[in-house]
Amino acid sequence: RTAELDSICLKAEVLPVITVERLEDAVPVARALYDGGLPVLEVALRSGCALDAVTRIREALPGASVGVGTVLTPAQYRQAEQAGADFVATPGTTEALYRHGMASPVPMLPGIASVSEVMAGWQYGYRRFKFFPAEASGGVAALRAFSAPLAEARFCPTGGIRLDNAGDYLALDNVMCVGGSWLTPRALIDAEDWAGIERLAREAAERFHHQAR
Ligand code: 3PG
Repeated sequence: RTAELDSICLKAEVLPVITVERLEDAVPVARALYDGGLPVLEVALRSGCALDAVTRIREALPGASVGVGTVLTPAQYRQAEQAGADFVATPGTTEALYRHGMASPVPMLPGIASVSEVMAGWQYGYRRFKFFPAEASGGVAALRAFSAPLAEARFCPTGGIRLDNAGDYLALDNVMCVGGSWLTPRALIDAEDWAGIERLAREAAERFHHQAR
C-alpha cells in the first residue's frame, strides 16, 4: 500500500483537487492539467457527476492517475472503485474507512490533522496520509513537528495551499506532494479557459519540479 501510494504521489509535486460541476468540463480540465505537467489528479466527490468525470478522464488520459477525493464512507469508497479510481483520498478517517481501505484493490490516502489520528492509521499499517486542512491545522510547523515522533510517515498536505506557500511544504522531508484547488479556479472553468488552467499547472509544475521527493 505504501509503495503503491508512493508510486502515485511521487509522479508529481502538485496534485490538483478538482470539483467538476458539468460533466463535459471533466476531460478538458484534466487534459489542461496533464498537458501543463501535472499527471496526478483528485476529483472531489462534491458534485453529482464526480464519479462519471473520473471514468471519462481515465478513458481520455490513460497516462494520468485519477483519484476520488472527499470520500466519507465505505459506500462512496466502493463507488470510487467502480468508477475506476486509481486512489481514494479522504478528508478525515473512520475505522470503517480504514478497514475498507485495507481490503480494497484501490489504495487510500487517509486524511489526518493530528498525531493521534496518524497513530490511529498507523495501527492499520498506514504510513502515507493527507494532512487536511493543512493551513488551519498548524501548517508547515505542525508537519515539521510530526517528523520527530512519526519518522516513517509521509504526507500530502492540502487545504489553504497555493503557489506562494506550496514550496514551504515541499521543502519538508516528510512531504511527498501538495494538493489544492488553486489550479482550477471556478472562473476559468466557467469561461472554458483551458489554456489558463494549463498555464497555472505549468507554473506549478515548473516551479516545484526539483522539490520532488
Ligand atoms: C481538499 O479537499 O483537498 C481541499 O478542498 C483542497 O483545499 P483548497 O481548496 O484550500 O485547496
